[in-house]
Amino acid sequence: MCGIVGFVGNAEASDNVLDGLRRLEYRGYDSAGIATVCDGKLDVRRRKGKLAELAKLLKAEPLKGDIAIGHTRWATHGKPSDENAHPHRVGDVVVVHNGIIENYLDLKAELAAQGAKFESETDTEVIAHLIAGQKGTLEERVRKALSRVRGAYAIAVISSSEPDTMIAAKNASPLIIGLRDDAGLIASDIPALLSHTRKVIVLEEGEMAVVQPGKVKVSKINGEPVNREPRIIEWSAVSAEKGGHKHFMHKEMHEQPRAVIDTLRGRLSSHEATVQLEGLPIDKLAKVQRIMLTACGTSWHASLVGRLMLEELARIGCEVDLASELRYRSPMMGPETLVLAVSQSGETADTLAAIKAAKEKGSPILSVVNVVDSSIARESDHVLYTHAGPEIGVASTKAFITQVIALQLLAIAFGRARGLAESRAKQLVEGLRTVPLLIEQALKSEKAVMDVAQKIRNARSVLYLGRGFGYPVALEGALKLKEISYIHAEGYAAGEMKHGPIALIEKGVPVIVIATQGPLYDKVISNLQEVKAREGHIIAIATEGDRQIGRMADDVISVPDTDPMLAPLVATIPLQLLAYHVADLRGTDIDQPRNLAKSVTVE
Ligand code: AGP
Repeated sequence: MCGIVGFVGNAEASDNVLDGLRRLEYRGYDSAGIATVCDGKLDVRRRKGKLAELAKLLKAEPLKGDIAIGHTRWATHGKPSDENAHPHRVGDVVVVHNGIIENYLDLKAELAAQGAKFESETDTEVIAHLIAGQKGTLEERVRKALSRVRGAYAIAVISSSEPDTMIAAKNASPLIIGLRDDAGLIASDIPALLSHTRKVIVLEEGEMAVVQPGKVKVSKINGEPVNREPRIIEWSAVSAEKGGHKHFMHKEMHEQPRAVIDTLRGRLSSHEATVQLEGLPIDKLAKVQRIMLTACGTSWHASLVGRLMLEELARIGCEVDLASELRYRSPMMGPETLVLAVSQSGETADTLAAIKAAKEKGSPILSVVNVVDSSIARESDHVLYTHAGPEIGVASTKAFITQVIALQLLAIAFGRARGLAESRAKQLVEGLRTVPLLIEQALKSEKAVMDVAQKIRNARSVLYLGRGFGYPVALEGALKLKEISYIHAEGYAAGEMKHGPIALIEKGVPVIVIATQGPLYDKVISNLQEVKAREGHIIAIATEGDRQIGRMADDVISVPDTDPMLAPLVATIPLQLLAYHVADLRGTDIDQPRNLAKSVTVE
């Protein structure tokens, strides 16, 4: 997500910080800024857009001083703009921040009542106000301020009152201290440090550090002392960008538990058996007669899962159409139809065109988008952000999982507005809380998946089958395999097999079947009999503890047990891993597969 870099030493600090921010550019961002203290004076430069824009500004208006903090921002609260760019300054204090402050609205109201003036739409500015309002050393002021804050954060703070000290603190978002004899460094990610030092201290949850040239003191945010030995980073600069993973796709698959936590943050309410979706007029939206979901590729698969959830929980008639088709149809649409567009990038040309066409017919537009203030977000009447963080690998992984989570949140919210039983809503809310852990467990199937990858690496074609919630998962598994391994793969509704694809099945043809527990399990097993009779190589994705499936399948990959409605989330994980490992064995360009682009902005 966003990048943080801090430097205190005896060199031009802003140059070092700008250089560090450049090394985090690969992560994606939409604005940037740097603050320094020079001769007791705090100074800030911020710019919407790329670092080149900030560099231009710094050339025209240089920042002097030997202490600086900087930031590249990926918008979460408030659009990308100069005002929302970090650092945020209040009085003698300036702050950069990654993550999301859950209780920022309450804090903002409280601070505003005390006379605080806010200049941005960010949650970060609240932290700057809280620190500025405290008394004591900078360390004590940060400690006191953070005792009020709930959420995920990594922050770096400097002040004109203590011009040789940087404070770093973290809870859930990464933050690393770099050690050099003549300087101190802070970064949200290792690549920003490697040109200065390989000696680092990785802060753990709830810890903070006081960083001065050649000196670091680590403690808990609550004041308890911490004794942490530095470690030496052996990674190359390139592997550091990928967090030590071989590819961004691998890193992003393993980021999924964290991404889900960010999607759910502050949105679940077990107490009220519902969800809170920042400012969406759910009661009004839930009155529509019909929902038309529209998207492309992986986002279309997420929409297919969303339709099943919305129909079952909210009892609203739903259709799903590919945006490239919808834009050229003459669908019966008007104010009674809510158009629900799903897009990671928010820039997909077909999806954008489909919602523009729907708008002309008078339909309200709600979008589920990852990139804040993207074209689709701006064109929509309402937006629900997934907060998955930047996705760099072309093959969508964490974006899909977080889209499904966001659609599940919507289905619960619409359901509650349309009579969904409190007990069922509660069950689902509790179920959602367990998803990060379930995904973590599903990722543990990687070893078993690698064995299967060896077996199918030379296949000419692979068939994916599923029913109900397993059908979109089959489509998604097939898309992942074909786009990065270049093996032909087809996803099919298992019940359709006898209407055509069964002709493809002969000895050894890999057939991957989504056979997790749920109301259609027995039907799926019957479909498997048909494959077995023709000696296809059956690879089953099944629920842990399933004894029956082993008699039928040649290979079984187990995923944790869950509510059938949440099963697509866990069942997709081994399919992502399988596509990845098959592609890796075949030596393809996994992060940038041939002929594909991350964001398809042309028709
Ligand atoms: C999936 O792995 C692809 N990258 C692709 O299908 C993608 O989901 C599609 O192009 C839609 O993109 P969007 O979510 O950014 O609109």
